[in-house]
Amino acid sequence: MKCRRCGKQAEIELRSHHTAFCRDCFKLYFLRQVKRAIKEQHMFSPRERILVAVSGGKDSLTLWHILLELGYNASGLFVDLKIGGFSEHAREKVEKFAQKRDAKLIIVDLEKEGIPIPKVVKKTGKEPCAICGQVKRYFFNRIAYEQKFHILATGHNLDDETSRLLANLLRWQMSYLVDQGPVLPPAYRLVKKVKPLYRLTEYEIAAYAFINNIDYFAGKCPFSKGATFLRYKHYINQIEYEFPGTKLDFYQGFLKKMKPFLTPFQREETTSSQVCPRCGYPTLAPLCGICRLKEEIEKAG
Ligand code: AMP
Ligand code: FES
Ligand code: ZN
Repeated sequence: MKCRRCGKQAEIELRSHHTAFCRDCFKLYFLRQVKRAIKEQHMFSPRERILVAVSGGKDSLTLWHILLELGYNASGLFVDLKIGGFSEHAREKVEKFAQKRDAKLIIVDLEKEGIPIPKVVKKTGKEPCAICGQVKRYFFNRIAYEQKFHILATGHNLDDETSRLLANLLRWQMSYLVDQGPVLPPAYRLVKKVKPLYRLTEYEIAAYAFINNIDYFAGKCPFSKGATFLRYKHYINQIEYEFPGTKLDFYQGFLKKMKPFLTPFQREETTSSQVCPRCGYPTLAPLCGICRLKEEIEKAG
């Protein structure tokens, strides 16, 4: 197969676009997709300070790599979940990445915060991925706001976005659907959130990371074994395999044709200016979810 752009031997086949590229042309294609996402969705300008949430995995490190290459002012934020045999390896990759590029890295240590994920799961019996997601979101938002970043960027890709969209649509989860999209506008004490890799699949990002020697952590979180979101990813990939191009059409169609009608389903938290008296985080409850969690863990001993 020949590269569509230059006619040389192709190395990466993109069935969804009915095309194939050599390495150099694939890099150009990839960067074009990221630039297009940033521009079309009005994500940020070169003057804005961006905080990239980096897990140590291929998506977020690729995102940070590209934003730095494009000359953006991008710092990293790693939340050390303290999951044994997982978090320490991820942290090492993130630290190495930042050191090599002399980039600013902020680390939140959940042990120091009193809520390491394994302890939280053991003491509360809560579903690990759900509580972990809540804790991460809290620190992403808090650090971004407190340290005066304009933008919070995550490495969510097209697979993440479409599998979540499918799961939410199947149950008509209107309050979750309203939050889906590559850009979440700023709200009271919450900075704007963006997903510059939303047009790219996991496969494309893995290929880009490999070609660019991005040294990422490929391990899986031990709590994610059998998680339902992985099954939705599998189903959406089955559909994509049979009907190439469906994933991007599905997502773009949602953004254009359905999202504009979802505003009435916005949750009250995002429109109120009530905050947690302990930490200042937006909440409608007497204490925010994380301060309540900290209290629960302290009581449990
Ligand atoms: P996940 O929820 O694991 O699919 O991750 C989605 C995105 O959240 C990643 O692409 C990162 O941008 C961010 N992220 C996940 N885990 C962490 C972490 N421990 N620290 C900082 N950012 C993270
Ligand atoms: Fe959060 Fe696995 S990364 S539970
Ligand atoms: Zn609080």
